[in-house]
Amino acid sequence: MNFSFNSFDGAQSQHTALQFVVQIRNLNYYYGQGELRTQVLYNINFELTPGQIVIMTGPSGSGKTTLLSLIGALRSADEGSLKILGQELVGLSKPKMVQVRRNIGFIFQAHNLFESLTASQNVEMAVELLGNWRKKRKLALEILSQLGLEHRANYKPKALSGGQKQRVAIARALVNEPLLILADEPTAALDKKSSHEVIMLMRKLAKEHGRTILIVTHDSGIIDVADRIINLVDGRLESEAMVKSYGQ
Ligand SMILES: Nc1ncnc2c1ncn2[C@@H]1O[C@H](COP(=O)(O)OP(=O)(O)OP(=O)(O)O)[C@@H](O)[C@H]1O
Ligand SMILES: [Mg+2]
Repeated sequence: MNFSFNSFDGAQSQHTALQFVVQIRNLNYYYGQGELRTQVLYNINFELTPGQIVIMTGPSGSGKTTLLSLIGALRSADEGSLKILGQELVGLSKPKMVQVRRNIGFIFQAHNLFESLTASQNVEMAVELLGNWRKKRKLALEILSQLGLEHRANYKPKALSGGQKQRVAIARALVNEPLLILADEPTAALDKKSSHEVIMLMRKLAKEHGRTILIVTHDSGIIDVADRIINLVDGRLESEAMVKSYGQ
């Protein structure tokens, strides 16, 4: 499978066949300094391959969001190895981390929409960032309608419900079809129908477009579409279950 690395520099910007989208080896992570230094992740090892949807579950405080933010190049680790899209993040400079982030779609709990822009304009901004001005309106409307928001495209966030805002944020994260999608409880504020639309869109991106998706969730509707479930307990990956036949 070929991926294009439009926003990477150098040789990696060419089409590259990748075996692993995420490859983590012996990763440890600590918060705080000196006496306050506390270990939150212990010897994490796992991989994600192109087209996989993997669910991460685990009790509150077990380190799920921390691990997601390390994979997303939002914070840096200094013990072990963390390769994202073929790029080692441990020891990487800040500007290079920013480049890695351009290939990742983030769906985190705080949606951070621009209040002065409409739903469509919020999504269009993400398209503009990759320089695709001509198609931005069309792409934004397409994805908003896939998420059941075609009638809300020209409304500003203050005129949208919590669940609608969340779906706009999801549209913004997915509109560029990033190679890697990281989602932290993406359907927590959504009703069953909206959750289903979000899940179907993610499944399409993974299965038809080869995108790789890591989702923190306890939503059983999402668990149904997962290729694998990983369970994080007290900062350790406890188990991996294949769930191809989940629910049967
Ligand atoms: N910025 C921070 N500074 C210090 N400690 C932190 C920080 N963020 C999280 N922690 C601690 O690290 C541990 C893991 O937190 P994390 O947010 O990754 O857990 P989580 O599995 O995502 O939990 P939840 O399911 O409640 O979202 C917790 O003990 C938390 O208190
Ligand atoms: Mg969390």
